[in-house]
Amino acid sequence: MSKVKFLDLGSQPIANNFLDNKSKIKNEYKFNLSVVFDEETKLVSLESFVQPELMFNDSYVYYSSLSKTMRSHFYDTANLLKKDFSPKNVLEIGSNDGVFLKNFPFNTTISVEPCGNFARITTAMGYTTYSKFWTKGLSETITTKHGKQDLIFSANCMCHIQDLKSAFASVSRSLSPTGVFVFEDPSLLKMMERGSYDQIYDEHAHMFSVTALQNLLKNSGLEIFKVQNITVHGGSNRIFACPEGTRKIDRSVRENLDREENAGLGNIDAYIRFSEKVSQSKTQLVQVLSELKRKGCKIVSYGATSKLTTVFNYCQIGTDLIDYIVDTTYDKQGKLSPGMHIPVISPEEGFDSTVDFAFLGAWNYEKEILSNEKEFLNNGRFISHVPYVRFIKN
Ligand code: TYD
Repeated sequence: MSKVKFLDLGSQPIANNFLDNKSKIKNEYKFNLSVVFDEETKLVSLESFVQPELMFNDSYVYYSSLSKTMRSHFYDTANLLKKDFSPKNVLEIGSNDGVFLKNFPFNTTISVEPCGNFARITTAMGYTTYSKFWTKGLSETITTKHGKQDLIFSANCMCHIQDLKSAFASVSRSLSPTGVFVFEDPSLLKMMERGSYDQIYDEHAHMFSVTALQNLLKNSGLEIFKVQNITVHGGSNRIFACPEGTRKIDRSVRENLDREENAGLGNIDAYIRFSEKVSQSKTQLVQVLSELKRKGCKIVSYGATSKLTTVFNYCQIGTDLIDYIVDTTYDKQGKLSPGMHIPVISPEEGFDSTVDFAFLGAWNYEKEILSNEKEFLNNGRFISHVPYVRFIKN
């Protein structure tokens, strides 16, 4: 059994730790962001994990509800799950600001959310909310108090959990014998295809392939019976799992496993090729931005995403190349970006006709952003590094 390191993204800060004063800059936490491939389970993970409390706490700044794309995504997801499974009770792990949960009745739906600021939101909405990390102890408490659950749902949270063995065993314990466990996270295959290395940051302890998940879930008596490839977060997989042997296996499971095998995800060679692509992307991006700057262009970034933290710190892109970042999240505005300390301001304040180029920090919302920013595109251009460094005119 061995873990092979294939990518080193250098010294990185906490991706969502926006800084509001000088003392915070002095004491900014940094760690080395490297990625390993487990040859036995086929799981791709960070080489070393960041302490969860440093990332998920009262000042967490990611609001799922802010984007129209995500609001309609979770509305549609909830309707699909109600139609297909008619759950009598629901547990959501990592419920953020309640964007999914609000589609279910509050008297039969439980929320688990370690970030206190978000837990307060779902509590105020009337949902029983446990502001805790998902652990064996918490799953036992919830099962004793509320019984086993028909639907356990989790979006962009399972890949945050460092001890997956314990997390999946706890899900298995809390799931009713005919229940379903549905979770969605960014797809490793999509990330490799798109060269979107910026999906690697402190919170993403793991990048999931269906292949690795099948191996891991099996150990907890769960089995994948369906996989849906969905578009959010640059391409994610929605995994449907159930207690082993309780449901017919859909052919989408085999199809996804085959696709991953054909892409070489079971073997280290594919990961080494990916790391070479990442290094080329860095060289090209720095070259393009430096050239524009030399010509006197004003370049900003659109979206102060976690992904942007990875790109800018890996490529060492600071205020020499990027004037500022615009972002709609109130909690990020007036602060400095993690690591490279680029000011973040509101789009109203900074996204105007003086901007020549905007780097798409939130490239996963390209469609939504392009349709909202038609006026900017009359004279300006977006730049994206996904799937390769390119200009977007419309
Ligand atoms: P997301 O890609 O979900 O973030 P992360 O990489 O952290 O998972 O992007 C959400 C961020 O982008 C959030 O800070 C809001 C910002 N954003 C805008 O500022 N304007 C927009 O039009 C969109 C869609 C997002």
